[in-house]
Amino acid sequence: MKSSASAPGKVILFGEHFVVYGVRAILCAIDRRITATSETIDELEIRIRSEIGDAEVPLGLSWADQKAPRFMRPFLHLAREALGESGTKGGLEIRLESEIPPGMGLGSSSAACVAAAASIWGLFEKKPREEILRRAIAAERTIFEDASGADTSASALGGIVSYTRDRLERVDPGKSLCLIIANSEYVHSTREEVLKVRRFKERNEEAFAEMCRREQGLVESALSSLVSGDMRSLGLMMTQNQEMLKKMGVSTEKLDVMVMEAGRTSYGAKITGAGGGGCIIALVDESNTAQTLGALEKVSECFVARIDFEGLKYL
Ligand code: PMV
Repeated sequence: MKSSASAPGKVILFGEHFVVYGVRAILCAIDRRITATSETIDELEIRIRSEIGDAEVPLGLSWADQKAPRFMRPFLHLAREALGESGTKGGLEIRLESEIPPGMGLGSSSAACVAAAASIWGLFEKKPREEILRRAIAAERTIFEDASGADTSASALGGIVSYTRDRLERVDPGKSLCLIIANSEYVHSTREEVLKVRRFKERNEEAFAEMCRREQGLVESALSSLVSGDMRSLGLMMTQNQEMLKKMGVSTEKLDVMVMEAGRTSYGAKITGAGGGGCIIALVDESNTAQTLGALEKVSECFVARIDFEGLKYL
C-alpha cells in the first residue's frame, strides 16, 4: 500500500531571527512543493530515498547506533513513531521529490517533514492538519531543537501566516503577492546563523532589545499594508527589515549586492530565512517584474514565485 502527500516551501516576509526571541514573524507559502510517498515494506528497516541522499536503517537501533546522516533524523523519527503507534510489524519506505532547493532558506526541510508526516500517517489513519503539523514540528526538532515551528506552520497551512511561538494566524492579503526569489547558491546552516545572532544579542543586550521593539512595530505595520494591498509601503518595510538583519551580521557581501540590484526596481528586497547564504526576495508586480528579473539574472539564479494557498495536500 502507498500513500502520497505534498507540502509547499515558504519565504519569510518579516521577522526571521527575531521570531526566536518572541517577535511576530510573517511567512508566505510559495508555489514550489515537496512530495512524499510512503509505502509499507516487509523488510524490518526504514528506507529513505531522496535527491540529497538515501538511507536504509534497521528498525530498533538507537540514535547513537544509526549511521544515517543527520538530515534523515526527522523521517526516521516520523516512521518509527507511526510504526510503533499503529502496531505495524514490517518496515517503511519514504520517497521524497522536491522542487525546492535545499539549504537555501526556502523551507525545504519543513515542507519535507509536513509531507512525510502526512504520507506516512496516510498509510494507517489520516490525521487532521493540526496533528500533522504538531508531529512535523517535533520531527524537525530532532535536528534543530530550537526550531521555532514557523516554517512548518506556513507549509502545513499555506497562504500567508503570522506566527509567534504560541499563536498562529492566517492573514488575508488585499492583493496576491508576486515575489522574485534569487538564490546566492551558498548553502547556509540555520543553526550557525541562529547562534551568530545569539552571540550578537549577548554582546549588545540593550541595542538588541531596541531592535526587537522596532521589528515588532515593523511587523504590525506590514500586516496592515498586506491587508490593504499597499505594495509600496510593504516593500519599504522589507528594506528596513533587511537593514536590521544586516546589522545583526546575517547578510553577506553577495546577499548585499543582490538586495541592492533588486532594490533599484522592485518595491523592496531582503534576505529570507536565516541568511549567511540562501536566498533573497524582492516584492514586485506586473509593472516591475521583468526589469527586476533582468537585473538579478546578472548576479544570481532567480525565479518568480506566487503564494500557495493550499498548504498540505493529500494526493
Ligand atoms: O531555515 P531558514 O533559513 O528558513 O530560517 C529559519 C528562520 C529563523 O528565524 C532564522 C530560525 C527559526 O527557527 O525561526
